[in-house]
Amino acid sequence: MHDLNEVQTRFTLFANNECKGYSNHYYELALAVADDQFLLDFVAKQIVTQPNLFFAAVQLLSGLSQMPQTAVDLHSFVRENETQLAGLMQTRRTQTNETGRCAALLPALPPGRLALVEVGTSAGLCLLMDQFQYHYQDQIVGTESPVSLHCDVSGDFPTTLQMPVIGWRAGLDLQPVDVHNGADAQWLLACVWPEHEVRRRRLAAAIELAKTQQLVLRQGNLADASISQLLSEVPDDLTLVVFHCAALAYCDKEQRESFAHTLIEASNKRDIVWISYESPTVIPEVTALDTQRNPRSFLLGRTWLKKGGGLEDRVDELLAHGHPHGAELSWCS
Ligand SMILES: C[S@@+](CC[C@H](N)C(=O)[O-])C[C@H]1O[C@@H](n2cnc3c(N)ncnc32)[C@H](O)[C@@H]1O
Repeated sequence: MHDLNEVQTRFTLFANNECKGYSNHYYELALAVADDQFLLDFVAKQIVTQPNLFFAAVQLLSGLSQMPQTAVDLHSFVRENETQLAGLMQTRRTQTNETGRCAALLPALPPGRLALVEVGTSAGLCLLMDQFQYHYQDQIVGTESPVSLHCDVSGDFPTTLQMPVIGWRAGLDLQPVDVHNGADAQWLLACVWPEHEVRRRRLAAAIELAKTQQLVLRQGNLADASISQLLSEVPDDLTLVVFHCAALAYCDKEQRESFAHTLIEASNKRDIVWISYESPTVIPEVTALDTQRNPRSFLLGRTWLKKGGGLEDRVDELLAHGHPHGAELSWCS
């Protein structure tokens, strides 16, 4: 059983830092949980108490159109569906697969023919980044696509972006999501917040696109040997890009360090470009370059690991601050 005060604080912070101004529905419901002894008890009994996981489970069970709207509705819904909700919170993870984040990743890619490895890939939808169309205000990258991404940019944003050429791609996840499995696809959709219709349509389109591809998705932990194994399979003649977004945030300090160590070891054999789009503090070397310290912005980091260069030759860059779902990007000068 988790500490009730901690769960209460977690839901209050979620309401104020993540939902306010972005999802009024979850803002109200998160505050309702923080103010309801029975709901706090229910969440505190679960292994993972993350608000996003709880609300995705509620949304999946109720259906989007029947989702509880008020504190009273939520209280009754959880009372009536306690066992099923607990079951979902035990077996599912927060796996929001947000293609919008590709709008942040694209300008960080190096030139040349690339091999992409994504850790914390969920259903691997971000691995399909070369098949989306990007709108950075007037700058449009890519041809028409069912997945169309719009990102408001500011600062010294690059003006001559090109679609990457991707020769190989693979993803790793603790629990890869299979888009061909109806229940998995429904779970992905339930991870999208109720008011976010554009995101939901984009996700549905990306799921359909992914069904037409043969994506290589491996089950494994980014902090164990699975990642070295995957890296050893990457063809030598491509520039290796390892990336992650909203994934290392779910790992503890030891796991993050182990992952960084694996990349540095793997760079004994080849150059690696490591791109991260995560909340502040996740990658300490990128965080150290951040002077804004805005807890609501993600940091777009890029680390160059030169072949055989080890830690000494590591070069870290903070490229931009961005919206967690990729709707805005403020480029650093
Ligand atoms: C919020 S989702 C983000 C998915 C995707 N990166 C995106 O931005 O659309 C986080 C993903 O990281 C995965 N994950 C969390 N910890 C992990 C670990 N230690 N090793 C591999 N995957 C992990 C989860 O299973 C989940 O699919």
